Amino acid sequence: MKSSIVRKAQFNAAHRLFIKDKTDQENLEIFGKCAYPNYHGHNYELHVKLSGEIDSETGFVYDIAKLRAIIDEEIIENYDHRNLNLDTEDFKNIIPTVENIAVVIYNRLRKKIENQYEIQIKLYETPRNYTIYPDQNTFL
Ligand code: NI
Repeated sequence: MKSSIVRKAQFNAAHRLFIKDKTDQENLEIFGKCAYPNYHGHNYELHVKLSGEIDSETGFVYDIAKLRAIIDEEIIENYDHRNLNLDTEDFKNIIPTVENIAVVIYNRLRKKIENQYEIQIKLYETPRNYTIYPDQNTFL
């Protein structure tokens, strides 16, 4: 029987959205306040959904303590209270939009979770703005 578990986590991080070849004014027009030169923070809320077969012996889809540990190690320790542009290698050449952050998080977790499990990321940048990756035409 197939089922899913979801682990929630959160991290606080700073970023600035800008395209290097554009002027401050042009970046402001594209990215709004997220382009302000001196960075700003968001309280990111991360939901990681992991799907697979319920193990007939344990009753688990996956050990949620293990999922928590992977999220802590891969995501929270690297991003929490960091400046995503300046303090992480992940966003040296990738604009840290909520969409891109979700893709990077997915790729980090995908390497640690066996392929028999599907994973999907929901990432909130604000309580009202979030993204889903990969988008499987489901409204998580
Ligand atoms: Ni922002």
